[in-house]
Amino acid sequence: SRDFDGMVGLETHLREMESLLNFDYVGVKIVGLAGPAGIGKSTIARALCSGLSNRFQRTCFMDNLMENCKSGLGEYSLKLHLQEQLLSKVLNLNGIRISHLRVIQERLHDKRILIILDDVENLVQLEALANISWFGPGSRVIVTTENKEILQQHGINDIYQVGFPSESEALTIFCLSAFRQTSPPDGFMKLTCEVVKICGNLPLGLHVLGSSLRGKSQADWIDELPRLKMCLDGRIESVLKVGYESLHEKDQVIFLLIAIFLNYAHVDHVTSVLAKTNLDVSLGLKNLAKKYLIQRQSSIVVM
Ligand SMILES: Nc1ncnc2c1ncn2[C@@H]1O[C@H](COP(=O)(O)OP(=O)(O)O)[C@@H](O)[C@H]1O
Ligand SMILES: [Mg+2]
Repeated sequence: SRDFDGMVGLETHLREMESLLNFDYVGVKIVGLAGPAGIGKSTIARALCSGLSNRFQRTCFMDNLMENCKSGLGEYSLKLHLQEQLLSKVLNLNGIRISHLRVIQERLHDKRILIILDDVENLVQLEALANISWFGPGSRVIVTTENKEILQQHGINDIYQVGFPSESEALTIFCLSAFRQTSPPDGFMKLTCEVVKICGNLPLGLHVLGSSLRGKSQADWIDELPRLKMCLDGRIESVLKVGYESLHEKDQVIFLLIAIFLNYAHVDHVTSVLAKTNLDVSLGLKNLAKKYLIQRQSSIVVM
């Protein structure tokens, strides 16, 4: 549909997911959608939700799952709370309260529903919300996460790993954001290729960078390029330039990604986000720290 026009390669992602969802199967299935932050998981999940809703009696898109976890509830109360939210959404009744963990099955066992759990981070969330014995025949649960392991720990074996876009797809993603068309206009080809190379092939990065250059002239681009090479938004002082330019190319990309997306992130998060790129992350982080381009404050990466 038009909502997802800008999503490059969406058809392929949807086909892969639909094959795992296996609509011929009459029982309940849980399917994982895994990949690093910014690769497109939530967008794919939303497209699935909107495209498949007519096959189900109810659909429910659960996001902001993490907000609940931070509220300091104990495990049992947290599960109750998550289930209350799920039930409120599925049954379209605000503020449902439940007193035990059997209610969800009582209320949903006869309904064919599609549930999307977006950005699941831990097993408690899965235990609270994803159990094949609770939902009516033909129901499907789609779980998106950066952490494939928790899917496996929960016994979810049908997992689609979202891959990085090809070079030509990366160019298209960037162009859609920068020019609202699939290829560069006259005179922009060389500049575009250069910027895309700086940015790497993470869709989120391509989208952010492309949008930041939208509407600017060639002259603007040429002016901006050196600054972009250092960082977007001037977050990096020119003092650092010497350090940055002497970095290995791969470390420059790590640096940029941290500057744009990952400042103040936990080092494990930085590592997992960058793990699937062909960048040597732990070495890169060490190199950056050595040049004082980043610091570690306990386990947080700070620029
Ligand atoms: N294949 C793609 N084509 C175009 N834009 C994309 C693509 N994948 C992701 N994006 C853009 O990147 C951003 C992050 O996508 P999102 O679905 O939120 O990623 P995730 O949930 O994996 O962190 C969104 O703005 C989205 O529009
Ligand atoms: Mg997401």
